Amino acid sequence: MALLIRNGEIVTVGSRLHADIYVENETISAIGKNLDAPSGTEIIDASGKLVFPGFIDPHVHVYLPFMATFAKDTHETASIAALIGGTTTYIEMCCPSRNDDALEGYKLWKSKAEGKSACDYAFHMSVTKFVEETESQLRQIVADGTASFKIFLSYKNFFGIDDAEMYQTLELAKRLGVIVTAHCENAELVARLQQKLLAEGKTGPEWHEPSRPESVEAEGTGRFATFLENTGATGYVVHLSCEKALHAALNAKSRGVKIHVESVLPHFLLDKTHAERPGVEGMKHVMSPPLRAKSNQAALWNALELGSIDTVGTDHCPFDTDQKLLGKDSFVNIPNGIPGIEDRVNLLYTHGVKRGRLDMHRFVDAASTRAAKLFGLFPRKGQIAVGSDADLVIYDPDYRGVISAKSHHVNNDYSGFEGMEIEGRPSAVTVRGKVQVRDGKFVGERGRGKMLKREPSHF
Ligand code: URP
Ligand code: ZN
Ligand code: ZN
Repeated sequence: MALLIRNGEIVTVGSRLHADIYVENETISAIGKNLDAPSGTEIIDASGKLVFPGFIDPHVHVYLPFMATFAKDTHETASIAALIGGTTTYIEMCCPSRNDDALEGYKLWKSKAEGKSACDYAFHMSVTKFVEETESQLRQIVADGTASFKIFLSYKNFFGIDDAEMYQTLELAKRLGVIVTAHCENAELVARLQQKLLAEGKTGPEWHEPSRPESVEAEGTGRFATFLENTGATGYVVHLSCEKALHAALNAKSRGVKIHVESVLPHFLLDKTHAERPGVEGMKHVMSPPLRAKSNQAALWNALELGSIDTVGTDHCPFDTDQKLLGKDSFVNIPNGIPGIEDRVNLLYTHGVKRGRLDMHRFVDAASTRAAKLFGLFPRKGQIAVGSDADLVIYDPDYRGVISAKSHHVNNDYSGFEGMEIEGRPSAVTVRGKVQVRDGKFVGERGRGKMLKREPSHF
């Protein structure tokens, strides 16, 4: 059915105007004033609302075997939570471990999403070892439309790769034109510092941050950048958490290294005192890189406004209270991760745009368009233009609410952002022209989402 969105204020990276949007066959077919619509057209009155391109979360975990357990969401629950929060596309980390076959892992991750997600999705393919068959397997995966890799410099003996494997991965990525995303922490230092702290009897969640201090992340970021510099590959640092690591990335960028930066919602809004709370309350806020000293946040917001931090993702990774308690005797066993897929857009709008830290166009860029450009989805996604997919967020800037696990849709018994106020939320969300969300409720078609095939573009 055709759809007409009337009288909204359309905001993209480059423009802001009052106009109607007419949608046919899943795509935007006209934008203009007082558009006519044939009878039978579904009409949304967007007066007083902002209309944004569907938001893109470039870093989520849905299916994830990790730290002796599994992340809690399915693609059904994660995608509905994403849509209610205004995210219409997510890119999941496909993470087979070092012991798994990469191609089998890729097929498994795809099978978990197929027919289940209510929004569109793609994958970053993790390279967790580099063996004889790796190149041909990665070529097949890229040919299947997955044109971005992921490497972990941390999580020794599980996801982590060594420098030789990083070199081989980046060298291949350069030849294939594929961007490589990277978790940048020095695995050896983390392992040594964990052992040292435990030997001193320091076992609680408050010791997670000291076991992977800012310098350890800055070293990983700088080393990744140096490897990019010497292979010519294009890189993307995921979940950058602190000023020291930011400097390492921006120093490299200033000497011409093709490096991009993502920071994730928790690092803008939460700090290490959350993980220092006693018992399970602290465990709920354990993620890696860890929540940092609050003094880092001004630098992150400033870099985001300037565009030096390219994107804001979530690193959505839900483990419930019982799972967090796996680490009650030792912080090294606390499953790492905080959920956020439902809250990213509203909290970024509230703490960014409403608080004057983020220009509205940069907000759209950081939460949608820049990821679409970096990951081969633009202009199909991340844009409001004739021919683009009709993924649209009709946003109510007058809504007021409070985040709570009691009302959220993520499959988890706590929210890392419990009690935080939001000033705005989507009043309607469409996926390729179909209304999937109205006023905080999923009203659409489960399993509507498609895997997005992407072409390499980083030669
Ligand atoms: O703590 C985190 N970030 N958990 C998910 C795995 C990862 O490193 O992204
Ligand atoms: Zn990570
Ligand atoms: Zn992650």
